[in-house]
Amino acid sequence: MEERLDRVLAHLGLGTRKEVGKLIRAGAVRVDGAVVRDRGFKLDPQRARIELHGEPLAFARHYHVLLHKPAGVVTATRSEHEPTVLDLLPNALWRDDLRPVGRLDKPTEGLLLLTTDGELLHRLTHPRWKVAKVYLAELEAPLPPDARERFAAGIAGFAPAELEVLAPQRARVTLREGKHRQVRRMFATLGTPVVYLRRERFGPLTLEGLAPGEARPLFEGELTALYEAVELEP
Ligand code: URA
Repeated sequence: MEERLDRVLAHLGLGTRKEVGKLIRAGAVRVDGAVVRDRGFKLDPQRARIELHGEPLAFARHYHVLLHKPAGVVTATRSEHEPTVLDLLPNALWRDDLRPVGRLDKPTEGLLLLTTDGELLHRLTHPRWKVAKVYLAELEAPLPPDARERFAAGIAGFAPAELEVLAPQRARVTLREGKHRQVRRMFATLGTPVVYLRRERFGPLTLEGLAPGEARPLFEGELTALYEAVELEP
């Protein structure tokens, strides 16, 4: 699908449409070897080779956004009645082919990756690659003394998980699978239902620097680590 050059560059996180427009007018951008000074120039970002100041833009084929999902928003691309995670993205980051990687329940906060790369999404959510997901949970009741051992043995039919008890009613849990409402179901089995849940980490990605509701493109180092974690080339 063809898109405007300024929109493609803004999507890659190089600045607002206005900022990238200045770069284009200044002659800093080449498409397929030729300088393009028209910010409305149409190109297919999947195929075109784009250079900025003579450097090819890496990862132009796909696009990824890190979102700190707040509570009260559904992990879906469309909903008639409720705000979705895509609705939260500012225009400069939004793209209609972005898909959430896994899902966080409506009341759950925390790290949610969105990507246009279907193969990356498949691998990150497939149990074979065992990508670690770390959650912080606040609980309605104190944890039983054997909670750690029961998580390690595999609770409620789920794969073994690591539990770090931070306080009687507060714990950090690391999963390497991602079944529907898994963390809530695990703690409910212990008789300590979850009252607050936040995903702090997803594979190599953390929430550092992102307040609830904020989003940003991935940094190059994050992107490389993410693809490496599932044995793909970026
Ligand atoms: N486990 C849950 O119970 N909820 C989430 O949102 C994510 C993992």
